[in-house]
Amino acid sequence: MSDAPRPRVLVTRRIPDAGLDLVRAACDVDLWEDDLPPPRDELLRRVAGVDGLLSLLTDRVDDELLDTAGPQLKVVSNFAVGVDNVDLAACARRGIPVGNTPGVLTAATADIAFALLMAVARRLPEGAEYVKDDRWLTWGPLLLLGKDLAGATLGIIGFGRIGQEVARRARGFSMRVIYHDRARVSPEAEAATGGSIVELDRLLAESDFVSLHTDLNAGTRGLIGREALAKMKRDAVLINTSRGPVVDQAALYDALRSGHLFGAGLDVTDPEPMRADDPLLTLPNCLIVPHIASATVDTRDAMARKAANNLLAGLRGEPLPDRVAPPA
Ligand code: DGY
Repeated sequence: MSDAPRPRVLVTRRIPDAGLDLVRAACDVDLWEDDLPPPRDELLRRVAGVDGLLSLLTDRVDDELLDTAGPQLKVVSNFAVGVDNVDLAACARRGIPVGNTPGVLTAATADIAFALLMAVARRLPEGAEYVKDDRWLTWGPLLLLGKDLAGATLGIIGFGRIGQEVARRARGFSMRVIYHDRARVSPEAEAATGGSIVELDRLLAESDFVSLHTDLNAGTRGLIGREALAKMKRDAVLINTSRGPVVDQAALYDALRSGHLFGAGLDVTDPEPMRADDPLLTLPNCLIVPHIASATVDTRDAMARKAANNLLAGLRGEPLPDRVAPPA
């Protein structure tokens, strides 16, 4: 057995034991046990001197944090596929590899995107409220009419793993799928998903449902603002399971309120958490859930294992199994 001291790591929230046990077996772990993220000053206090950081999307990893951590920090492992909370350039300048958890949450996230799409199309939240409010007096030919999926066009913005998985689901519901991305995916991926690439304006103009699957970067922040919403078909539905700031929520409120859009389903908001007095929550045609797309037992276990394995590989000085490419 080696006498080498065990690496010190900070884990900024309780993650499933499937990953935490792996980390505990190899490291001295400082675990932030609270349900809420560590306040900034606490995060900075605890990160000082650690060899590895297992962070969440609620922790900002930037120059200040990396300087406070110190030069011995070997790895940042983010418990998420999205890494917009991590300043990748700041990590790259210090030679610190960043890990994430791609692949294992693809199906769960696509499921939530599709669940939101169906729930908004068929007005399920309104129907549930209707029953609870004791307003259900008879079967009605005009009661709570929704939108058909079969034959409708689904426009997917961001055709990576998750976007493609949403397309597969849409195919099963006899929808036409178009997508927009920086580049065309392979002909095999197009054949498997039934998606064909179009310009963004055409996607907005033709889609009955628009689902967002981009990452958050300077080019996608505010992508769905007033102008884009105005280009969307009247009566279309917007679904967002990517990141809240991709959508301008004030503009979305106006588009929903005016009746230009049929509805919206959001798993992500700006800011998060959304407070109960947010104007969007007053609209019956807007369904909002609290960033739960990857929240299944198996998916979170798999994310925890990936995050742990990235952390441990970085501590050993080995290539991370899932390393985020440093910015060009
Ligand atoms: C991610 O992984 O980026 C999701 O937003 C949370 O699972």
